[in-house]
Amino acid sequence: MITNWNDRFSDNIREFEGYSIGKIMKYLNDPNIISLAGGLPSPDMFLKTGMRIASKQRLEEDIDTIMQYTSVPGEKSLVDAIIGFLARDSINISPENLIVTSSGQHGLDLTGRLFLNHGDTIIIDRPTFAGAIVAFSMQRINIVGIDIESDGANVDVYEEKLEAMKKKGIKPKFMYAVPDFQNPSGITCSKAKREKLLDLSYKYDVPIIEDSPYRDLRYTGETIPSIYELDQKRDGNHVIGLYTFSKIFCPGIRVGFNIGPKEVIERMINIKEGNILNTPKFNQDMCTEFLTTMGLEEHLENCRNYYGDKLNLFLETMEEYFPPEMGVTWTKPDGGLFLWVTVPEHIDTNDLFMDALKYNVAFVPGDVFYGENPALNHMRINYSFASKDQLVEAVKRLSGCLRERLSKS
Ligand SMILES: Cc1ncc(COP(=O)(O)O)c(C=O)c1O
Repeated sequence: MITNWNDRFSDNIREFEGYSIGKIMKYLNDPNIISLAGGLPSPDMFLKTGMRIASKQRLEEDIDTIMQYTSVPGEKSLVDAIIGFLARDSINISPENLIVTSSGQHGLDLTGRLFLNHGDTIIIDRPTFAGAIVAFSMQRINIVGIDIESDGANVDVYEEKLEAMKKKGIKPKFMYAVPDFQNPSGITCSKAKREKLLDLSYKYDVPIIEDSPYRDLRYTGETIPSIYELDQKRDGNHVIGLYTFSKIFCPGIRVGFNIGPKEVIERMINIKEGNILNTPKFNQDMCTEFLTTMGLEEHLENCRNYYGDKLNLFLETMEEYFPPEMGVTWTKPDGGLFLWVTVPEHIDTNDLFMDALKYNVAFVPGDVFYGENPALNHMRINYSFASKDQLVEAVKRLSGCLRERLSKS
């Protein structure tokens, strides 16, 4: 009988602990808990009628190919629809620049596998999306974090770190950014900083991975060009774009896409051949229908109104229940699904999380969003999933919980 399985696991996996957010989910089964923890879009925004009609029709018309193996890079109909979807955002690509993925997390996994060797260095924001950290960390890399400011990463520090690394002969494999309504902070990178990141990418010869799940969910302010678009204006090939249908259509369908230089996409296709082969055709077809027959622009407008309202309510309720003397601050995002709350420095939000469970409310403790040296006094809040009544109640409970902790410290 084999008793030492751990010794047989690959070097990459032996110490690998998976997705840290997953570990708090086990606490959230109690229906009395209002969870602001997951990154879930609201089922109120699911196009259920469109999905029912489209799925019935596709199954009737095309069941043989739906039940068959299909193309690894992606269904032609979906590829064409995505090219049109991106063109409305001023990104112009050909099919050879695109691979359909089985969601954003798969897109991140392909990126990590393609670029990273054990010991490589990457640069990320502090904080950044925990799912990216987990996907990239599987290759046992070094992570350099750059503090994020209210308009994106501190680009001066970015430059200093790149220069210091250059002096030591270290060339990072890539810089990873979520420029629009970042997960977890909700912060959007300004146009000037996007241009500066590109300048740095050219100066130090380091590609940029631009992850854009929330780009179409802007509730206030003007759209800022994607880094991909800005790079196309320079005739460059420095950016790889990662997209998912999870937040604007539905996460259950698990479809997304990566875009980038032909050489990069070709190699991602090779990796996909060895990992999942093809993304299910049925799921791709549903995304094609989503982009072409389900009233895309109207749906996105509905999402913006719906989530924008929830965000406003959440922010107003925060003002009411977290007066300045509590020493709590929070971001005021222009879009997306998250905001970032900072509590007084002496409070560890992992402890606060356990207290919050007693108050029947949950959030994600902020330490999981750092690749190195985690800060402990933040929490990520999701406002898209809970109902409006629950959001108000959740803020009241959070405030009560924090007051109790502050009174003890
Ligand atoms: C920045 C970012 N990238 C990628 C993903 C993963 O998306 P998916 O659910 O499609 O795998 C998420 C999901 O929350 C995200 O916030």
